[in-house]
Amino acid sequence: MSRTTAIDVTERLIQTCLTGKHLYLAGFRGSGKSSVGRLLAKHLGRPWVDCDDQIEAAAGCSIREIFAEQGETGFRDLEQQAIAAIAALSPAVVSLGGGAVLRAENREQICRSGVCIWLRVDVDTVMRRLTTDTTTADRRPALTALPQREEIEKLLADRSPLYEQVADLQLDTSGRTVAELTQQILRQLEA
Ligand code: S3P
Repeated sequence: MSRTTAIDVTERLIQTCLTGKHLYLAGFRGSGKSSVGRLLAKHLGRPWVDCDDQIEAAAGCSIREIFAEQGETGFRDLEQQAIAAIAALSPAVVSLGGGAVLRAENREQICRSGVCIWLRVDVDTVMRRLTTDTTTADRRPALTALPQREEIEKLLADRSPLYEQVADLQLDTSGRTVAELTQQILRQLEA
């Protein structure tokens, strides 16, 4: 079989397993959900939806400002509304925020409307990515009063069982490029 035909077949198989469903990417801050989501959407010929973009567009301000004015609960309410609205859209690749799995209502929406991939990440990688990512200042306010490393360790431990609950697939992202992760997801969906 020629290479082009093999790729066509792979993409058809993947589209079949995703028929009528979103492909959600879940995982902690800095796990690569947005970069991988954008590239996956391109490969699958689907729209890419970033949950944090939707929240900021609906609120008309940055996530940092939402936290400052409405606190984390206000942000989680907006996030829940955004996830409900996204779940009703036609099938897309959806990059969720790191805390999207916290509410049971969100976990139900994700499981009901899509296939979900958990991008796993270790503490050192999160620390490095958050420091170098230019969106951190506007989008990632502190979530606890702990020093950054301890906050990451605690929230990773608290949230891991919740990511696991919604995940159809898990992927370790440490030391892998966005292109490698995207290819691996496409292969796993095919399998
Ligand atoms: C959050 C993660 C952020 C953003 C908000 C809350 C979290 O998204 O939704 O700052 O609770 O971990 P990213 O995971 O894209 O950084």
